[in-house]
Amino acid sequence: MHDHDDIPSNDSGNRPFEDVLRVNLERRKLLQGTMTAALGAAFFGANSFVFADGKDKKGKGKGKGKGKGKDDRPLLDFTPVSVAEGGGTEPAIAAEYEFDVILPWGDPIQPKGPEFSIPVDPDDQAIQVGIGHDGMWFFPFTDDDDKKGKKGKDKGKKGKDDDLEKLSKRGVLCLNNEFGTNFHVLRPEGRVLDGSGRPIPNDLDDVRTSQHAHGVTVVELKRSGGKKQRWKVEKSKLARRIHVNTPVEFSGPVAGHSLLQNDALNPPQGTVNNCANGYTPWGTYLTCEENFNGYFGTDDEAWTPNIRQQRYGVNNFGFGYYWYRFDPRFDLANPDYANEQHRFGWVVEIDPMDPDQNPIKRTALGRKKNEGATVHEAEDGRVVVYNGDDQRFDYVYKYVSAEPWRDMRDNGESPLDRGTLYVARFNDDNSGDWLELSLDNPAIDAEFSDYAEMLVNVRRAADLAGATPMDRPEWITVAPDGQVYLCLTNNSQRTTANAANPLAPNPDGHIIRWAETNGHSGTAFTWDIFIFAEDTHGTELSFSDPDGLWADPDGRLFIQTDGGQKDGLNNQMLVADLTAEGTPDVKRMFTGVPGCEITGIAVTPDRRTMFINVQHPGNGNPANSSFPAETGSGEIPRDATVVIMRKDGGIIGS
Ligand code: FEO
Ligand code: CA
Ligand code: CA
Repeated sequence: MHDHDDIPSNDSGNRPFEDVLRVNLERRKLLQGTMTAALGAAFFGANSFVFADGKDKKGKGKGKGKGKGKDDRPLLDFTPVSVAEGGGTEPAIAAEYEFDVILPWGDPIQPKGPEFSIPVDPDDQAIQVGIGHDGMWFFPFTDDDDKKGKKGKDKGKKGKDDDLEKLSKRGVLCLNNEFGTNFHVLRPEGRVLDGSGRPIPNDLDDVRTSQHAHGVTVVELKRSGGKKQRWKVEKSKLARRIHVNTPVEFSGPVAGHSLLQNDALNPPQGTVNNCANGYTPWGTYLTCEENFNGYFGTDDEAWTPNIRQQRYGVNNFGFGYYWYRFDPRFDLANPDYANEQHRFGWVVEIDPMDPDQNPIKRTALGRKKNEGATVHEAEDGRVVVYNGDDQRFDYVYKYVSAEPWRDMRDNGESPLDRGTLYVARFNDDNSGDWLELSLDNPAIDAEFSDYAEMLVNVRRAADLAGATPMDRPEWITVAPDGQVYLCLTNNSQRTTANAANPLAPNPDGHIIRWAETNGHSGTAFTWDIFIFAEDTHGTELSFSDPDGLWADPDGRLFIQTDGGQKDGLNNQMLVADLTAEGTPDVKRMFTGVPGCEITGIAVTPDRRTMFINVQHPGNGNPANSSFPAETGSGEIPRDATVVIMRKDGGIIGS
């Protein structure tokens, strides 16, 4: 989302070690040398990709594709959107591709629901598509029973035998709605603005409208049509909205702890600022609460944040949304909701096939500003969840389940409820360590009376463990060769470099990657930097502020951006070939519209449909964009999902 995550709240002093800066400047000089040579090649051999340090050899050739798509094309066999084409008022897509737009903010979540209208009605918004489209995933149906909304946790297994194409015609899309406090979400007419130009809600209806626009949209989608295939929203018992006022449950070590208790009349409700996502091998969706602190505040001047609240950026004003004026849950000084702030900042599990399930907050993963939650099955059958805390100078985490996930589920236990939580230290010599966060660490033990208290304040535990402060960790993905890629979107306030974040300042971001040395459930890794965004500027590869990231099983890396692009570009999605020998290709597949970010990736099982999102087109202002309506039409722009297909029906990215 916008740069609210730009206000650093880490005063831990986990800033680099005295001589790291010198070492890194030298390293940087070395990298610059490599880059200059490589970029020279890029100018002449358009679209050859640029690796920061030439250490690209680990990843090659292990994907199924070995440089070819399944349909025998080179891995990236499309004509990229050029820099010149990628900065217009309308989206642009590679010549071999076409796109459709579905699920605009405010459409009903199933046919015959309330149609979009301005001003938005709060009750309608609770059964309409939310706003701030972000992470998402597609869950295919494997048989007709699913459509009836019956519970069935193992349908995914049954489906493995089904034909991929059949699985790719119908399913449930879970879509995060990150952010909906913009002027255009509320009633534009007569709206009062605060001193900084933010819209002030007039009443509880305004607040409810905004709250109902947040959360998760669950819809059933079906593909139909002849030569021209289209995806449409279906009538479905599974369609639902999960928003700020939906009943939720807590599970794992913090469940039942006093730090989650409010007045007895105030049970846990809601999810907010749902940024990126994850999906589990047992068929559930993970939605990740990021900038939850911004929704809290108080007009009570006697209230001041304590040091633990400050570490999460909880303060009297929040991000200026003023919900607390009409909804006491968000008033920090209201004693009936003393612990409401602790109920947010979690990874939340949703069963897409069970419309009656209450979303479950998985507390074993720790409370932070979760970007996403990338689940990977380790070699020993345990599940690993990689997870970035998106704030300047915050950290990268890894959760490892206590036992193999199948065993835990067979015993009726969630693999996300019992395990070990680690935080990353990126060492100067390109090694890395996963530092365990537990009371066995004497420094952590000295500050927390129990493990649950530590999980609620996991940022502080990570400070004490000696984690490496990063340049805003965003999406994480595991490539088919096992290497883990992470977007570090930017950090214009960095004044002191560390090895893994060697640019000070770092306004354009970089992508780092690592290989686990003892398997994904181990505690050591080696890392290197995949690319510095600034090194692409002035070339056809130009991008800045990498954010969304997804590696497909053939070794394509989809990179999405959120921030001021250079060279006149709108925010965009590029695809890199991780399998190519030598300098792999990267190509620009899609560019959005002015003012938007591109975020969220979901694919059908056959990977012949990809869903991505255009978030905050025109920043809500029709003077910038009316997407998905034509610019200049004067219509209020609406966040929406873009459906990408190859004109010849091929695998996306090929
Ligand atoms: Fe919600 Fe860090 O992007
Ligand atoms: Ca971002
Ligand atoms: Ca993001």
